[in-house]
Amino acid sequence: MIPATREEVAAIVVAAGSGVRLGRELPKAAIEIAGVPMVARAVQAMFAGGADLVVVVAPEVWVERFAQFFPTYADRVKVIPGGLMRQDSVRIGLAHIGSAEIVLVHDAARPLVPPFIVDRVIEAVRDGAPAVIPVVPQVDSLRRIRRNWTVAVDRSTFLRVQTPQGFEADVLRTAHANVGDKEFTDDATMCEAIDIPVMTVPGDGLAFKITEPMDLVLAEVIARGES
Ligand code: C5P
Repeated sequence: MIPATREEVAAIVVAAGSGVRLGRELPKAAIEIAGVPMVARAVQAMFAGGADLVVVVAPEVWVERFAQFFPTYADRVKVIPGGLMRQDSVRIGLAHIGSAEIVLVHDAARPLVPPFIVDRVIEAVRDGAPAVIPVVPQVDSLRRIRRNWTVAVDRSTFLRVQTPQGFEADVLRTAHANVGDKEFTDDATMCEAIDIPVMTVPGDGLAFKITEPMDLVLAEVIARGES
């Protein structure tokens, strides 16, 4: 039984992207990594890390097919059609989290996120942070574009942001209600736009985002090594 003081945690797994950059017919989240669809791996990681309910936001014509990816958790996973932009998909997902007080937003394109990162983000929200992001250091040198020239910048002042990002559910609802037409790349940025402080926790290399074909090769090798 869930203790009365434990806040319920919902995770929104955004999986409604097309995956054109991977050059496949399938939506990116349906591509298998070592025999398991990316989105199924992401959902499994959310539960293993402490989520009670997962809302999967899928491409509209793929909703029924995606729903078959989660036989083990059928009663705790909702699959719904997404929107045009990532932030539309998150907003649609938010309407399906019920009474959960903590909400995670996770990219299905980060299927190998370790459950301890999910747990770390949830705990930081439980400890009082309204918005939490996992981050990793920037390892490459960085340059800023200046017209037709570039100048070096201090990479130690930059961090790379991963998911899941965690929020007090009401904070994320307020942020989404205030976005208007502006496009945001992630939900923490949206919270910052309404003056919500964003806390960082250490992320992990395994939470990398699958974007290019080479990322799929890497994920496949890692997943095979683990099974
Ligand atoms: O395109 P990108 O990899 O940055 O997308 C990040 C995540 O957002 C992916 O998991 C993708 O499926 C999701 N997404 C979405 N709805 C959109 C666009 C992207 O759920 N309209």
